[in-house]
Amino acid sequence: MPIETTPVLTGSRGVAGRDGAGPAPDADLVAVPFGPGPVLAPAPWLESPVPVDALLAHHEAKGEPGEVVEVPTVRDGGVRRVLLYGTGDGSAAALRKAGAAVARRAKGRASLSVVVPSEGETAALVEGALLAAYTFTIGNGRTKPVGEIVFLGGDERDLKRGEAVARATALARDLVNTPSSVKTPAWLADQAKAVAAGSGLGVRVWEGPELGEFGGIRAVGQGSISPPCLVQLSYTPENPRAHVVLAGKGITFDTGGLSLKPTEGMKTMKTDMAGGAAVIAAMSALAAFEAPVRVTGLVACAENSISGSAQRPGDVITQYGGRTVEVLNTDAEGRLVLADALAYAHAELDPDVVIDVATLTGAAKVALGVNLGALYATDESLAAGLIAAGEAGGERLWRMPLVEDYRAMLDSDVADLANVDRTMSGAAGSIAAALFLQEFTGGRPWAHLDIAGPARAASDEGEITKGGTGFGVRLLLRYLATASRPAPVRGA
Ligand code: BES
Ligand code: MN
Ligand code: ZN
Repeated sequence: MPIETTPVLTGSRGVAGRDGAGPAPDADLVAVPFGPGPVLAPAPWLESPVPVDALLAHHEAKGEPGEVVEVPTVRDGGVRRVLLYGTGDGSAAALRKAGAAVARRAKGRASLSVVVPSEGETAALVEGALLAAYTFTIGNGRTKPVGEIVFLGGDERDLKRGEAVARATALARDLVNTPSSVKTPAWLADQAKAVAAGSGLGVRVWEGPELGEFGGIRAVGQGSISPPCLVQLSYTPENPRAHVVLAGKGITFDTGGLSLKPTEGMKTMKTDMAGGAAVIAAMSALAAFEAPVRVTGLVACAENSISGSAQRPGDVITQYGGRTVEVLNTDAEGRLVLADALAYAHAELDPDVVIDVATLTGAAKVALGVNLGALYATDESLAAGLIAAGEAGGERLWRMPLVEDYRAMLDSDVADLANVDRTMSGAAGSIAAALFLQEFTGGRPWAHLDIAGPARAASDEGEITKGGTGFGVRLLLRYLATASRPAPVRGA
C-alpha cells in the first residue's frame, strides 16, 4: 500500500518580512507590543471603546512576557480585536516567550500580523512565534495552526535570522514526529540527501556491505527488515577556522531489541533519532548563517528491532577501529552506533572538536527532567561555548561529570568493553553511557549531549510544541555560527 503521508509544515509557513507601513488591514488578527512602561502611543487603528489603560489595569497586565490582552477595536463599523502582548525587558528570552504567546492566541486564524517592538531581540520574537505555531499533522489532526504570520517593522536581517532558526528547528521536529512506519534508516538518509541538495552540503551514505567495519551500526540494525546506514554531511566554508564533527544518534525506532522495552517505554521511541535530526537540521542552516567552521555531520541510522536475526545479549561485536564490545543489554544500542561514528571521526576526519547528540539514556531524563539537556565534555572552552549558546537560545544544558572511577563498571570479562554496567546496578546510567562513548573519541576535544529528556515534549509550552522539540538545533547553530575562537590546541 502506498503511504500517502506528507507531513505538512504549516506552522512555519509564516512570512517573516516587513510589509511596509502599518498593519496589513486584512490580517485576521493584529498584535501590538507593550512594555512595563507607559502604554503605547495611540494608533489610529487602535481605537477601542474601552480606554486601553483601563483595560490593562482591569487585567492587571504589566507588560510581562507571555501576557496577552485582547482589546476590542472598532473598524469598518464592526468590532475587531487587537492583541496587546507584553514584552518585558526586551531580552531574547522575554521576546521568545512573547512571540510564542501571541502565536498561540492566533491558533486557527488565517493570518496574524505582529508589530515588532522598536527595541529588543527581534530574532527571538520571530523564532518564538514561528516555533509556537508549528504543527505536524497527517490528514486531519487536531492541531490547527495560524495560516500566516507577518511581522511588521523590525530589522530585515533579524527577521530572517529568526525565521531561519525556526525553519531549521521545524525540520528537526518534522523528522522526529514522522512515524517509524515511514521513517526507516533509508528514509532518514533520503531526507539528509534532500537537505544536502537544498543547502549545498556534500553527502555520502554507507549502506549494505559498505558498512563492513561499522560493527556497531550493523549489529544494532541486523534485527530489522529496514537495513541500517551511516550518513555523512559536509559543510566546507572558505578558510575554515576549525573542523567540527557532529555525530547524531539515528535510531529510527527503539524496541530495545531482545532486551525488549515495556509498552510504556516503547511508545515514544519513534523519537529516538532526535539527535540525528538535530545534526541534519543544524547543518541545513550553516550556509545561511555563514558559519566560519568546517562541519561534518554523521548520522548513524538503524532500527533497533527484534527478530530471529537480532543481536543477542552476550554477543560480542567489533566496533569501527577494532575495539570489541560485549553487548550485555541490546537496549543500550545508541552508544553502539555512536561509538562507530566517533571512532570513524577520530580515525578519518581529523576533527578539532567532536560533539555528539543523542537521546541516549532514560537516566539523563530522570536526573534533569525535560527542560535541560545533559552535557559532558572533555574540554572547558567547548563546554563553556555550548552552555552559553544554549543559554542564549533558550536551550539549557547542565554539565555532568565524567567520573573516572565509574569507568571500571564497563569492564568486560570477555571483550575490551561491556556496553552497560556489568553488575547491572542501574546507577549513574547517563554517566556510564558517556564514559562508554568517551572510549571512542581518541582523546580529542569532545562533548556529548544526552537529550533524552528535552528532545520530546508531552505538551505545548512556550515555543515548545508537543512531540519532537528540535532540541539542540538552536544551540548547535549558534555555537557553530559564532565559533570565532581558533581551534583548540590538541591535547591541551
Ligand atoms: N533510547 C533510549 C533512551 C531513552 C529513554 C530516550 C527514554 C528517551 C526517553 C536508549 O536507547 C535506552 O534504551 N537506554 C537504556 C540504557 C540501559 C539499557 C542501560 C535506558 O535508558 O534504559
Ligand atoms: Mn534503547
Ligand atoms: Zn535508544
